[in-house]
Amino acid sequence: MSEPAGASIANVMQETRVFPPPAEFSASSPIGSMEAYQALYDRAKADPEAFWAEYARNELHWFTPFTQTLDWKPPFAKWFVGGKTNASYNCLDRHLNGPNRHKAAIIWEGEPGDERTLTYLQLHREVCKFANVLKGQGIKEGDVVSIYMPLVPELAIAMLACARIGAVHSVIFGGFSAEAIADRNNDAKSKLIITADGGWRRGKLLPLKETVDTALAKSPTVEKCIVFQRVGSKPPMTPGRDLWWHELMEQASAECEATPLDSEAPLFILYTSGSTGKPKGIRHTTAGYNLYVKKTFEWVFEPRPEDVYWCTADCGWITGHSYVVYGPLSSGTTVMMYEGAPNWPAEDRFWAIVEKHRVNILYTAPTAIRSFIKWGDHHVDKHDLSSLRLLGTVGEGINPEAWIWYHRKIGGERCPIVDTWWQTETGGIMMSPLPGATPTKPGSCTKPLPGVFPIILDAQRNPVTTPNQGGWLCIEKPWPGMLRGIWGDDDRYIEQYWSRAPGMYLTGDNARVDDDGYYWIMGRIDDVINVAGHRLSTIEIESALVSHPQVAEAAAVGKPDEVKGQAVTVFVTLKEGEPTPDTKESLKQHVRKEIGALAAPDDIHFAAALPKTRSGKIMRRLLRDIAAGKETVQDTSTLEDYSVLAKLRGDEE
Ligand code: WT7
Repeated sequence: MSEPAGASIANVMQETRVFPPPAEFSASSPIGSMEAYQALYDRAKADPEAFWAEYARNELHWFTPFTQTLDWKPPFAKWFVGGKTNASYNCLDRHLNGPNRHKAAIIWEGEPGDERTLTYLQLHREVCKFANVLKGQGIKEGDVVSIYMPLVPELAIAMLACARIGAVHSVIFGGFSAEAIADRNNDAKSKLIITADGGWRRGKLLPLKETVDTALAKSPTVEKCIVFQRVGSKPPMTPGRDLWWHELMEQASAECEATPLDSEAPLFILYTSGSTGKPKGIRHTTAGYNLYVKKTFEWVFEPRPEDVYWCTADCGWITGHSYVVYGPLSSGTTVMMYEGAPNWPAEDRFWAIVEKHRVNILYTAPTAIRSFIKWGDHHVDKHDLSSLRLLGTVGEGINPEAWIWYHRKIGGERCPIVDTWWQTETGGIMMSPLPGATPTKPGSCTKPLPGVFPIILDAQRNPVTTPNQGGWLCIEKPWPGMLRGIWGDDDRYIEQYWSRAPGMYLTGDNARVDDDGYYWIMGRIDDVINVAGHRLSTIEIESALVSHPQVAEAAAVGKPDEVKGQAVTVFVTLKEGEPTPDTKESLKQHVRKEIGALAAPDDIHFAAALPKTRSGKIMRRLLRDIAAGKETVQDTSTLEDYSVLAKLRGDEE
């Protein structure tokens, strides 16, 4: 991360629209006003430990109660010390003696259109059986199990089965390469991997098992490979190592008590890319994480017993861990799961799913929303979306124009939008509107959740007190869902998150707080553009571009400039058609009008697509190299589509 230059970050975005929560929403909401939110926030602030301890006692099952709420030896936290619980028990067994017993836990739709529904009772049975399968293969408490699967119910079953017996899962997104799988297996010393014979993506078969075979040639610690039959392909099976899921399940008993696990027993490792070098294995533990994702899920989404809730993330990302599996299942909600691509067989697939399953809550990513806008409103107009009550976004800042489209076109102007800011490291949502309380502003994640204490630091590491002045976003106090470390690398954990702002967690994002105390994320610290001593935020320039009628998506980066230090270079994807000779001038004028001459781009590149990570984030660091005309020496292993990079280089002027 680069150190901040002298000046702090200039705020140039002027977004003034405010959307109060709908009255009927507030009326039935558990936190139905800003006063109620503030009261809860103040209660947490007065005594954070007592606040969390009370929830922990009431909302998790304890085989053994905890004796100490927090043991904080910065930067190492232990929550609910001395207690024993189990996340699989909290997600499943807790529901079996009440009204949720026969309620749908997972409603799943495969890409080809096949469907399955698992009730809580059925899910519990599958998880118990698979937990016994794992035990039968010699998996014990503390062993690491890799999971590389398509988004089928068995992915959640495998995660919960690990959790049931204290094995630590490491889910690897099904789009990663053999090399990436081997790196992760080796770093975590996985003993077993679970995969499938294949998966579907835009009608094509993903040969997952073959990819795993290549990875296993370089993964000496992995002894066994369990293969779920999804597509009916016949991958080669290595005798003694590879086993079919369905054959093992036929033999397995459905009786498997959840193991009482220490509050701080590791629940999972999830690898996330650092800006350079090898991926970091973010380590989350049992009780604190489980409580945090349950409470934040309930605060932010306010699920009703009859709701169908759909988070479109894959379980390969933290969003899938926290808000497909552990949060909603702990809270007894019905989760919609969809295996495939949003544009298969056509660009209306999401809306067909919402209509067919009467989805009430939809949680998706800004990158997907920008694609929907580009694909055109007629795909949305074909479907009845009146079941939707609440919308959410996660993963990046949402450009105000995309927010407005989501609000009008998908939400029918009646659904609140919760723009949730958080990270793999934070475990769960840290800042978000509460749908019945918080008036929303397009592009702002609004306010911290109760128990979360953000602070913004200036270049001298002093708290920023002036409204709208941007700086480093840090978190002042530990919270139950926080990462406990980087797998096997305490030094990197300290270096990365705790060394630059002593005593505080450094998020790596820049943010500002406006006059109303609302937070606006300004992008990654590394991505700031410094034009003639003025530090500009990427998101603000990009949002200005996206508000131009022709623009679908934009990425802004700095390019070395002898006079100004950096010049603004932007990469733009148009909604449709080719740029005309006037388009560039029109875009420059637009940014000048929206922000000012300082931010007007010097270079504009048009591209059919922007380089993104597999989770949909624009990789600005690669664009920086292209803007500067340099060869990329950076790690591109997380890039979704290599051809995008080649095309961008070819397109350069
Ligand atoms: C980074 C974390 C959060 C789970 C999925 C991504 C950016 C995330 C927002 C938001 C602005 C956001 C931040 C953050 N980010 N949500 N609502 N507004 N920026 O997890 O891959 O660990 O990425 O995503 O830069 O630090 P992740």
